[in-house]
Amino acid sequence: LLPKVLAGKRVLLTAGPTFEALDPVRGLTNSSSGKMGFALARACAAAGAQVTLVAGPVSLATPRGVRRMDVQSAAQMREAVLQALPGQDIFIGVAAVADYRPRQTAAHKIKKGTSSLTLELDANPDIIAEVAARSDAPFCVGFAAESRDLATYAEGKRVGKKLGLVVGNLIQDGLGGDTNAVTLFDATGAHVLPPADKSEVARGIVAHIAALMETPHGQ
Ligand code: C5P
Repeated sequence: LLPKVLAGKRVLLTAGPTFEALDPVRGLTNSSSGKMGFALARACAAAGAQVTLVAGPVSLATPRGVRRMDVQSAAQMREAVLQALPGQDIFIGVAAVADYRPRQTAAHKIKKGTSSLTLELDANPDIIAEVAARSDAPFCVGFAAESRDLATYAEGKRVGKKLGLVVGNLIQDGLGGDTNAVTLFDATGAHVLPPADKSEVARGIVAHIAALMETPHGQ
């Protein structure tokens, strides 16, 4: 049996990609299976937490005991997060949120016929940065999936978005698969977790979060 290191805690997570519609059948999205976020939701529940999972479009079963809210776009993900936020102790943003959305969504299917098509995009809100900036912010954990310079970008996100912890991984080590190799970046430095399947990595992340929350000032 796993130690209940998050007993009595409420945890809110985002997972999966977002989908930003261009028309009724097309859209912009990120490549994200949702497996790491779902594994973390499961690990948090197993550690005794009350878990709410805001999921983008993924085909994964809801972990036992987890409350799930399904969304498509970043705007919908933000709404769901803000709705579920009151009373949360921990927010973990695992979702691969699309950075931009089409300025317009066509009501009907866009027809081909022109030799080129220009899309106008607007920046999406940064959900975790908004949550972390609140006066009643829970302990915030972000993810950084990078193709290079992991430590620099992950540390930049931790400081820039005011997060207690950033879980960094190189895209080639984790995307889509069942295993992952991550490094945890917190105020004390970088901590490498051994490469393992995503459920094992999730348990390591949960243990680290629980330990950080026990230290004075939480981070
Ligand atoms: O996309 P980026 O690498 O900046 O993502 C880092 C962290 O910020 C992740 O935890 C991600 O879930 C979160 N994020 C978010 N809203 C965005 C973009 C990223 O919550 N619009």
